[in-house]
Amino acid sequence: MDNSELATLQKNLQAAQEELGKLERIKPLASAAAAVVHDVRNSLGVIQSTAQFVLSKLKPSAKEKEAWELVERNVESIRHLLKGYLGLARQTENAKEPTSINELVERVTHFIDVQCGKNNIKVVKDLAEPSPRVMVESSAVESAVLNLSINAIEAMAGGGTLKFITEANGSDRSFHLVIEDTGPGIPKDDLEKIFTPFYTTKEKGTGMGLYSAKAIVTQNNGRIHCESEPGRTRMVLTFF
Ligand SMILES: Nc1ncnc2c1ncn2[C@@H]1O[C@H](COP(=O)(O)OP(=O)(O)OP(=O)(O)O)[C@@H](O)[C@H]1O
Ligand SMILES: [Mg+2]
Repeated sequence: MDNSELATLQKNLQAAQEELGKLERIKPLASAAAAVVHDVRNSLGVIQSTAQFVLSKLKPSAKEKEAWELVERNVESIRHLLKGYLGLARQTENAKEPTSINELVERVTHFIDVQCGKNNIKVVKDLAEPSPRVMVESSAVESAVLNLSINAIEAMAGGGTLKFITEANGSDRSFHLVIEDTGPGIPKDDLEKIFTPFYTTKEKGTGMGLYSAKAIVTQNNGRIHCESEPGRTRMVLTFF
C-alpha cells in the first residue's frame, strides 16, 4: 500500500469515526423518541379498534359511518408512518444482490479492527472456502452483522476473543454465519427478551440493535438465534 492510499484510508477512517461519534451523541435522543413513538402507536391502536368496533357492531348511520371511516383511515396512516420510524418497516428496501458472506465478514472486521485492538480483543476468522454466497441486501445485512459485533465488543470490556465463523450446512444450500464472543454471557431468563424492542441492560443502550438486526435478517430470508452460557455467546445467523 503506498502513502497516498494510506492517507485516503486514514481520512476515510477518521470520517467514519466522526460519524460514529455523532451517532453516539444522538443515541439518548433516539432512545427517547423511539419510546414515545412506541407508546403513541399503542394508543392509536386503541383508537383504531374502537373505530372498528363502532363500524362493525354499532350499525352507525351513513353519515356517522363516513366520519368513523375517516377516523379509521387517518389513524391507520399515522400508525403506518410511525411504524417506519420504529424501524419496524424500513422505508427503503434495497435491491438484493449476490453476496459473498466471507467478503461481508472481511468488511465488518476491517471496520472494527481498531476498536478491537484498543479493547484487547482478538479477532479470529474461521471461514468456509469457497465462501457461501446468497442473494441479500448486502449493506443492510452488513449493518446487522456490525451491530452484533458491537454488542460482542461491548460484552468483552476486559478483552477476549471475537470469532466469525461461516459454515455450509451439508444437507442443503443453507449456511451459518456465527458471531461468537467470550464475554460473560446472557442469563437464560433474559435470552428470550433480547430481540424485543427497547430491551437493554446498558445505561445508554436503545435496545433496538438486536431487534433491527433480526428484522433485517428475517427480511433477507434468514433466521437468527442466540446460544449463550457463561464465557461464551453465539449469535447464529442461518441463511437459506
Ligand atoms: N454478545 C452479547 N453478550 C452479552 N449480552 C448481550 C450480547 N448481545 C446482546 N446482549 C444483551 O442484549 C441486550 C439488547 O441488545 P441490543 O443490541 O438490542 O441493545 P443494546 O446493545 O443494549 O443497545 P444499542 O444496540 O442501542 O447500543 C443488551 O443490552 C445486552 O444485555
Ligand atoms: Mg446493541
